Amino acid sequence: MPETLNCFPLTVYKDQLGLSEAYRRELGQKIIETSEANPLADGEDHPWTGDLQGHDLFHLDPLTANLFGLLKTSVTTYVFALGMDPARFQYHCTRSWGTVSLLGEHIPVHNHSQSHISAVYYPVKPEGAGNLILHNRNPPNEFAPGLFGAHASERGYVQELTDFNTMSATMAAAEDDLIIFPSKQLHGTEVSEADSPRISIAVDIVVTLKGESGGEYSMPDLTLWRDLETFD
Ligand SMILES: [Fe+2]
Repeated sequence: MPETLNCFPLTVYKDQLGLSEAYRRELGQKIIETSEANPLADGEDHPWTGDLQGHDLFHLDPLTANLFGLLKTSVTTYVFALGMDPARFQYHCTRSWGTVSLLGEHIPVHNHSQSHISAVYYPVKPEGAGNLILHNRNPPNEFAPGLFGAHASERGYVQELTDFNTMSATMAAAEDDLIIFPSKQLHGTEVSEADSPRISIAVDIVVTLKGESGGEYSMPDLTLWRDLETFD
């Protein structure tokens, strides 16, 4: 009996955080106010993203304490799901920022290569607002270059779009959803078709070993680092 065996999955974590609608609206309002105080330059036609406007430390705002207080459990659950021992690591929130996407806007493909684990939370996501899209520019099953691309698809080589021949995967999400994925993963968003703003909060987490320097598998515990400035 022939079989097809699949390997090398990308694992994405999704969960509802259970934060109240009132709190989520408060987070959204804070991001809107920040975006209005720090608008895009004239002619810029893309979503407002706090990281590019000098506002990438949202985790230091006391308003976000309830949100970030829930992140550790989610991140360690994600790491555990990968078959890792989450207790061996420390999880440092290094950057976080709000995004505001208006009707017709989308966030183009990018990744967060300076980080290890990324998360996105949706305090405000109206009906029709764009979902997160994960991209794979080198899908392992693409046995000839470009075969899974849009151009080849138009020629009908791919009869049915499935997980086995796709270059992108849409992560449907609702308000209060949290999504976690590796920071190196290319991602963007669908075009927003909602009349009201879609507001998300992006988080970058750097992972270090806990209480050890380890080998060369992850960065040593931060307490073992020494700034060269401190040597005489
Ligand atoms: Fe991103």
